[in-house]
Amino acid sequence: MAGLPEVGPWAKEKLDALARYLDFYTKVLKNQPWRTVYLDGYAGGGRAIVRAGERAASDKPGLFDHEMPIDVEVRELIDGSPRVALGIANPFDRYVLIDPNPDRAAELEALKREFAGSRTINVLQTTAAGGIDWVTAQPISRRTHRGVAFLDPFGAKLDWASIQKLADTGLFEVVVNFALGMAIQRMLPNSGEVPTNWAATLDSYFGSRAWFEEVYRRREGGLFAASGFEKRPDYLERLLELYRARLRSAFGHVSTPRLIRNTRGAPLYYILWAGPNKKGLEGANYILTMGERLSQR
Ligand SMILES: C[S@@+](CC[C@H](N)C(=O)[O-])C[C@H]1O[C@@H](n2cnc3c(N)ncnc32)[C@H](O)[C@@H]1O
Repeated sequence: MAGLPEVGPWAKEKLDALARYLDFYTKVLKNQPWRTVYLDGYAGGGRAIVRAGERAASDKPGLFDHEMPIDVEVRELIDGSPRVALGIANPFDRYVLIDPNPDRAAELEALKREFAGSRTINVLQTTAAGGIDWVTAQPISRRTHRGVAFLDPFGAKLDWASIQKLADTGLFEVVVNFALGMAIQRMLPNSGEVPTNWAATLDSYFGSRAWFEEVYRRREGGLFAASGFEKRPDYLERLLELYRARLRSAFGHVSTPRLIRNTRGAPLYYILWAGPNKKGLEGANYILTMGERLSQR
């Protein structure tokens, strides 16, 4: 297992929702005339190690807690998104797996060899933006193709321009990891003095400066204070709604958000679906609210 990326237990929830949606999508399209494409913009290598529990540090409090390795007993190997997508009952006609990391790309090439003969796979060792440019330049159209793009970056490395390109094809749906509780929140200091490089990342991510208004308001009597801004109490909900509204206007429909939390209950990110088709919306909403319905029982 050496060298494989390590993920938290919540990754399973994300991958489970993805598997269910891909299953639903390919079943619905099974007897339709279109060629189908699965695009994985941030594919990873195909497998990851998941921690099935918390670090065991509290079992033996002492001097060397910080050096304690994760207990091997609570580790497990899971299929990452490319294997999940390759493993569905009604496979896509083509898989485009994208990752710029040389180790991950080599693992994806091995995956391509493993599935040679049964799946058509393109491995692109490039960024999601580069891969989406490549795919959207292929001879595909709404008349001949349909596709799902899974966009699962670490943090905010996802440019709105790439999402817009997928929407403009009229044939893609997207399943997006909206990393609100992780990367995005961390780029928003209370003072409103957002460093230039973070502001540029957020501008690219949201596709405009609109995020600033949703997060900050002028502090009363703060006109002459150091920054004069404070965070709105509901800025997280506002950012989520801003992003959902952007997706809805680009694709036509956007799902109910599915919140993924860590094992202590802290919010990490949302899974959002967007697409041009009402039936896709109904399927996505059903699947993305499934975990919540189960936990309410
Ligand atoms: C969260 S992991 C993906 C996990 C995978 N989707 C899964 O569920 O199994 C993010 C991946 O994005 C890759 N990555 C980093 N920057 C990227 C970029 N600009 N474009 C595409 N992939 C990138 C990393 O190498 C890493 O493998």
